[in-house]
Amino acid sequence: MKFSPVLLALVALPLAMGCSEQPRPVKAREAAPPSASAPAAPVVKAAPVRDPHSFSHPDEVAVDHLKLDLTVDFEKRQLTGRASLRLDNRTGADRVILDARDLTIRRVTLDDGAEARFALGEEVGTLGQPLEIRIQPATKWVHVDYSTSPTAGALQWLDPAQTSAGRRPFLLTQSQAILARTWAPVQDTPGVRMTYEATVRVPKDLLALMSAENPTQKNADGVYQFRMPQRIPSYLLALAVGDLEFRPLGQRSGVYAEPNVIELAAWELVDTPRMIDAAEALYGPYRWGRYDILILPSSFPYGGMENPRLTFATPTILARDRSLVSLIAHELAHSWSGNQVTNADWSDVWLNEGFTTYVEGRIMEAVYGKEYADMLAVLGRQELDLAVQDAGGPTDPMTKLHLDLEGLDPEDSSGDIAYQKGALFLQTLEHQVGRQAFDKFLRGYFDAFAFQSMTSDRFVAYLKKNLLAGSEARAQELKIQEWVYQPGIPSNAFVSTSTALAKVDAAVAAFQQGTSAAQISTEGWTTHHWLHFLRALPQPLDLAKMADLDAAFKLTSSGNSEILSTWLLLAVQSRYEAAYPSMERFLTSMGRRKFLKPLYAELAKTPAGAEMALRIYTKARPGYHPVSQETIDEILGWRG
Ligand code: BES
Ligand code: ZN
Repeated sequence: MKFSPVLLALVALPLAMGCSEQPRPVKAREAAPPSASAPAAPVVKAAPVRDPHSFSHPDEVAVDHLKLDLTVDFEKRQLTGRASLRLDNRTGADRVILDARDLTIRRVTLDDGAEARFALGEEVGTLGQPLEIRIQPATKWVHVDYSTSPTAGALQWLDPAQTSAGRRPFLLTQSQAILARTWAPVQDTPGVRMTYEATVRVPKDLLALMSAENPTQKNADGVYQFRMPQRIPSYLLALAVGDLEFRPLGQRSGVYAEPNVIELAAWELVDTPRMIDAAEALYGPYRWGRYDILILPSSFPYGGMENPRLTFATPTILARDRSLVSLIAHELAHSWSGNQVTNADWSDVWLNEGFTTYVEGRIMEAVYGKEYADMLAVLGRQELDLAVQDAGGPTDPMTKLHLDLEGLDPEDSSGDIAYQKGALFLQTLEHQVGRQAFDKFLRGYFDAFAFQSMTSDRFVAYLKKNLLAGSEARAQELKIQEWVYQPGIPSNAFVSTSTALAKVDAAVAAFQQGTSAAQISTEGWTTHHWLHFLRALPQPLDLAKMADLDAAFKLTSSGNSEILSTWLLLAVQSRYEAAYPSMERFLTSMGRRKFLKPLYAELAKTPAGAEMALRIYTKARPGYHPVSQETIDEILGWRG
């Protein structure tokens, strides 16, 4: 979704609520200070810079602590209560600007209760509105009394029937990238960090959990207290409310899930403590206290979300063979890359996702061995090549790591480029300088910038100084500028190979030359062998071959979400109608956007497919999270 940068720069606040003077216009994009260069350890804290996706001016006044007091009303589908924000007024400013979208603001008070003048500015697409509050230079607290809208973009309210156990309602949030502002008035930019605490009131028989210190069981009154002592950016604010149980996985980790899923979840995620140990051995202490995982109902729009202390995860990773746990390695890795060192704004999302995809691979290698990690790397490279193709080829600006998102929704960049090109860049560096030197460098980077935000410029400066001994010649040789600021894949990219997958290539070749499916030797194949096999087949594949594969391997009824989604995509491309009922079940039984998007997009390519897609979507849409709804609405031209 696009919004006009001109509009964004010109938003002026109307007079409201008895304001007697005209507030200054809010410019979300006025002269941001240039990003700091070459920070050497010990590092000087950089002042927050302005973010094109936030109305706030944290360089003037920054929020450093948030206190929420919220009541969760399932009938009204509404959160109601108070957000109290503690201010760090750096410039003696007489206003603070927060981000708000679809919030009803009842009243704003300061410190010990004096009424404050405030105004909500003009709405700018998905950015929502600036909430400008008049303060005194000495004001320490602003208290905002507000309610959310039933259609708040971060919130999904599930009826009992949409949960796995089917008995109690459920609420879940998804704040990344710029949706926190739909459930709390905050400075909604990753460049601002705050500690937080919360009181959350829920129906008595439900448990509330946040990205904070959490309870492990329900209490009698349904009032839960939370505390998050580490400073986090707003996109890591998270809340879930439901009929949830807890099982420990180790001393400092465990899993929450609905009662009917908890045993399977605890079995599937048994290796989590080993992953934490492996990550610490590589990148230094885990700084967040506990690491727990929440398995959500199937409508959760992502595979995983790295909410600190409590990763949110889709139940579609519960494959019953532990084969999809690299997703946990990924979300855990964010505890260093992303949550500890954070992209300053969404134009540098690769600093979160690319680093995390690299670290994910290293954790997987440490826990499951090099052969497994090599398979993941080869599949990752395939995803990168497809992403470059989808973006319009290697000269398209969206294939850069550092992006220009001015006037664009950060959603528009959430393809695989940041993940896979970012990871490939770090793999390339690792192979160029040697693993030992690179590991030391990366660990030093996470330490040096812990709980701070990072830009591409700062990272490149730190890299040149600390990994390349300040040598410009070496930086040129490694094509550092080209990797970060140019489109496409530089020619020095490291090429991963996998002997395991090479065997699959041989099977694909034989199958294409006429060997029947039943004769292919698939013994010992794991999920990743199958993904490679399916991706390597011609698209479309002829119907006789589709039927032959299906008869031999029962792919249409696969219980593995990754294999099933890849197979179903091939089925649509090949018009293999025998798989359509299974596809309809899949699309109506889970809301993970990564699985929905390619299937709906492929269906939409033909008139008959589009008709079927619309029929299925009409039924499925009410069960999807707003994040997935927005994506599929656009693909199908849904008007409601
Ligand atoms: N932080 C992301 C999810 C995200 C990215 C939400 C951008 C909103 C905007 C999370 O860590 C992630 O990458 N999830 C992936 C799984 C991962 C294994 C690639 C997903 O959900 O598919
Ligand atoms: Zn991620």
